[in-house]
Amino acid sequence: MQIEKLLQDNPSFHVWSDGSAANFGVSDRVVKYIYGKLKPGDVTLETGSGKSTFAFLLAGCKHTAIAPDPGEELRIRNYCSANQIVTDFTFIANSSAEVLPLLVNNIPALDFVFIDGAHRYPYAEIDYHFTEKKLRTGGYMVVDDIHLPSVRNLYVFLKNEKNWELDALIDKTAFFKKTGEEILINDWQNQGINRYFLVYSNMKAKAVGLIKSVLGMKRR
Ligand SMILES: C[S@@+](CC[C@H](N)C(=O)[O-])C[C@H]1O[C@@H](n2cnc3c(N)ncnc32)[C@H](O)[C@@H]1O
Repeated sequence: MQIEKLLQDNPSFHVWSDGSAANFGVSDRVVKYIYGKLKPGDVTLETGSGKSTFAFLLAGCKHTAIAPDPGEELRIRNYCSANQIVTDFTFIANSSAEVLPLLVNNIPALDFVFIDGAHRYPYAEIDYHFTEKKLRTGGYMVVDDIHLPSVRNLYVFLKNEKNWELDALIDKTAFFKKTGEEILINDWQNQGINRYFLVYSNMKAKAVGLIKSVLGMKRR
């Protein structure tokens, strides 16, 4: 099976800032879990590229990877041609923050999104924001490196929302399944992340109203 060979080879698709080879890839378990969720023909998108890209290529997805370093594309395509892997995918060599706002208007509905591009704040949230509307109900939104403070907010947010279900947490990667579109009430009030604040502010308003009415009664 080609995925086993890829994991054994463990090729380097990334570079450090001094140009030396690096491997910032997700764990083998995550590559296999992504692969297990995919079907041929699924429309998929990832921010970042590398080992994970092969889960999509080997599963026969219509895949787009977005990462600024064109060297990553070259190394992925070279590994593919050396291993007879079909390289029918789109690599966009740019920052996801530049690409996604334009791209989302021109792509079909997505079955699977993998967020593993820039990890500094607020990139994971930008990647989420521009892809979640395109993700079909039943599709997967997968966020890597949720241990980083700059990514963790997104994980906490999704865990609290009614239209996302945590399917699996593997190593540092969270797999969320979309169970429906977000239902907005007065902008922020239906979001799980605001639940306790809403209860607190309603109680506070009631208490203030009660105090005012008691004080008003005494003055009369
Ligand atoms: C942790 S690595 C991704 C590892 C990959 N998922 C794998 O399994 O090998 C981070 C990736 O984010 C990419 N990246 C860095 N800045 C980015 C940006 N602004 N937009 C999109 N991708 C970015 C890097 O080029 C790199 O491919």
